[in-house]
Amino acid sequence: MTGRLALDRYNARMMNAAPAHAMSSPRALAFSETQTLVQADMAAMDRLISERLTSEVVLINQIGSHIIGAGGKRLRPRLHLIAARALGYRGNEHLQLAAIIEFIHTSTLLHDDVVDESDLRRGRKTANALWGNAASVLVGDFLYSRSFQLMVELDRMAVMQVLADTTNAIAEGEVLQLLHVNNPDVDEAAYLRVIERKTAVLFAAATRLAAVLCEQDASHGASLYDYGLNLGYAFQIADDVLDYTADETALGKHLGADLAEGKATLPLIHALGHANADRRLRLREIIEHGTIDAMPEVLDAIVASDSVAYSHSRARHYANKAEAALQSLPDNEWTAALRGLARYAIDRSN
Ligand code: IPE
Ligand code: IPE
Ligand code: MG
Ligand code: MG
Repeated sequence: MTGRLALDRYNARMMNAAPAHAMSSPRALAFSETQTLVQADMAAMDRLISERLTSEVVLINQIGSHIIGAGGKRLRPRLHLIAARALGYRGNEHLQLAAIIEFIHTSTLLHDDVVDESDLRRGRKTANALWGNAASVLVGDFLYSRSFQLMVELDRMAVMQVLADTTNAIAEGEVLQLLHVNNPDVDEAAYLRVIERKTAVLFAAATRLAAVLCEQDASHGASLYDYGLNLGYAFQIADDVLDYTADETALGKHLGADLAEGKATLPLIHALGHANADRRLRLREIIEHGTIDAMPEVLDAIVASDSVAYSHSRARHYANKAEAALQSLPDNEWTAALRGLARYAIDRSN
């Protein structure tokens, strides 16, 4: 059975299995309920993003509105807004911090698509495909430095400290990942070190900054940091599974991008570790050359080793840890929304 067919059958089997979080647990909001709950804050943040995106340089406005206008899930700022409300925050600064977090995220996407040579994001052609690498990198820098201008306006040293450390770690993560390209010896531990930096730290900052804003005692800050970090791991593992299994239209990105880049992510790392000697040699060769034509073979190997199920179980492990970190938080609708988002991070289709 070749790749896609085997995978479709596998997916059909999984659809009939019990949901991952069927056990009794504290209340978690469904994603639609969370959307309703945080709608007003999200709309206010979107207005702020549009206002603060502008520049006198036309190309910046074009590229900025191309990528920001395409939407995206806005998950990181959503988490910040909800975490602030969970702690009873009543001011306005959480809107600005949410916009800052989305600007940082968007600038990493502009840079990431250049590095990954991607031509599809959020269902649209990427900025690098339309305007070229140089324009994308430079507008990424604009968004990045705009986020620092917005931070300075907040005039809170503790916020600047968290975000300076976070952006620095993201850059480290991207460079570390670059060093692993075409390397078949990358194991799960090395993979986790990359995703902690490139993805999880920004989620951790988004949630922890809610406690910084509320000037809450350190324990809420630590809990929200643990929540965000674990959610970030779960989110990136789910993203890496989607790169093999998603519906491309729903995902808004090309499938197989990681394989084409010679990037060994968890499903492939697991398959490699569980293949027989012949297949292992072949998979190593595929990673070394990063060829998308090998996708059916890789899917076969992934299905044969149940590597999607394994990756899901690791994502679920981190999502459960994220939920557990919320135990000491006030028991309210907002905390229930945070619980729901930990589940959404691994159950999503895009
Ligand atoms: C994409 O993040 C980059 C990863 C860390 C996988 P998202 O999947 O949150 O991207 P958007 O903002 O929703 O487009
Ligand atoms: C992106 O990782 C992480 C950052 C943008 C820092 P990916 O390369 O997996 O993200 P996608 O799949 O292109 O969104
Ligand atoms: Mg990418
Ligand atoms: Mg990806």
